[in-house]
Amino acid sequence: MGKYCVLTLIVIISATTTLALDWYALTQANYAAIQNGLSQLNDAASQMNQSITEQQNRVQSAMDELDDYVRQSIYGLLYQYQSLNVNLTTIQNLIQVVYKVGGYKWYVSMLADDYKKTVTNNVMIPAQSTVQNILSAMTNFYANQWQSCSQQYAPQLVQPQLSVGRLKLCITAAIPYFKALADTTLSLFSYGKTGLTTLLGFLDQCSPSSSSCVQKFLNDAPNLMNNLVMSITNLQSLPNMFMQPGVPAVKECTDLIMADIQQTLQSLVNKTTNC
Ligand SMILES: *[C@@H]1O[C@H](CO)[C@@H](O)[C@H](O)[C@H]1NC(C)=O
Ligand SMILES: *[C@@H]1O[C@H](CO)[C@@H](O)[C@H](O)[C@H]1NC(C)=O
Ligand SMILES: *[C@@H]1O[C@H](CO)[C@@H](O)[C@H](O)[C@H]1NC(C)=O
Repeated sequence: MGKYCVLTLIVIISATTTLALDWYALTQANYAAIQNGLSQLNDAASQMNQSITEQQNRVQSAMDELDDYVRQSIYGLLYQYQSLNVNLTTIQNLIQVVYKVGGYKWYVSMLADDYKKTVTNNVMIPAQSTVQNILSAMTNFYANQWQSCSQQYAPQLVQPQLSVGRLKLCITAAIPYFKALADTTLSLFSYGKTGLTTLLGFLDQCSPSSSSCVQKFLNDAPNLMNNLVMSITNLQSLPNMFMQPGVPAVKECTDLIMADIQQTLQSLVNKTTNC
């Protein structure tokens, strides 16, 4: 992107030899500054992607771990309450009907991918249009190459304040929102484990002779456990809590830096036209 424009400019400029300002060197420096800014953004995007993938893996492993925990806890009833004559088939049926948290792994992957793409696009697309503006400013200065103010101000195109690399801040700002989502999901899972232990512990109330107590527990357990699973996998509400504020924050950061760059750039360009 932008490469063709820059190369064309370099070819035109190198044909001209009698200038006070070394336009060729300036164009090269400008091109290098743009490349450097874009590569800083790319590095920030890789870092963000990696961090979000780590958080995604954390949540997905915790989902498997929670499903194992539920399975183990229900099997545990066999040994813990031997006197209640709950048999293996009943336990296996119970395990079968409890919702599997791991069934939502795809949703976590989708959230992570979507977030990565949204953040990347919200920064990269404005960055690319800024690069275009810097390149056309360069063309503009070059078109006025004989004017002293053009020669005076063109070198200011290569200043840190005009670097799209500044936007890397907006990409890394997106990371904590996703981490908060993962942390919250994990603490919900641990709340789920506590809730499950409480539920299964109710069997303590059934004495060996009271088959109706045991039967009631077995009848109600699937619903009670599934309510618990549903509440801790209410993943639809989590993106609203964390990612919904994250995306506009990234956009605000981008808009502010863009406004700063655009005005600095425009006032430079204005200096050529007012010469
Ligand atoms: C980050 O991940 C998104 C979504 O998968 C992808 O579109 C983008 O190219 C990735 N960026 C980098 C620098 O790896
Ligand atoms: C297990 O218990 C259930 C319900 O109490 C009963 O219907 C079933 O026959 C039992 N199965 C075995 C293998 O004992
Ligand atoms: C640039 O010039 C235009 C037209 O004269 C003016 O409207 C604008 O405010 C100027 N911008 C800056 C940043 O100086």
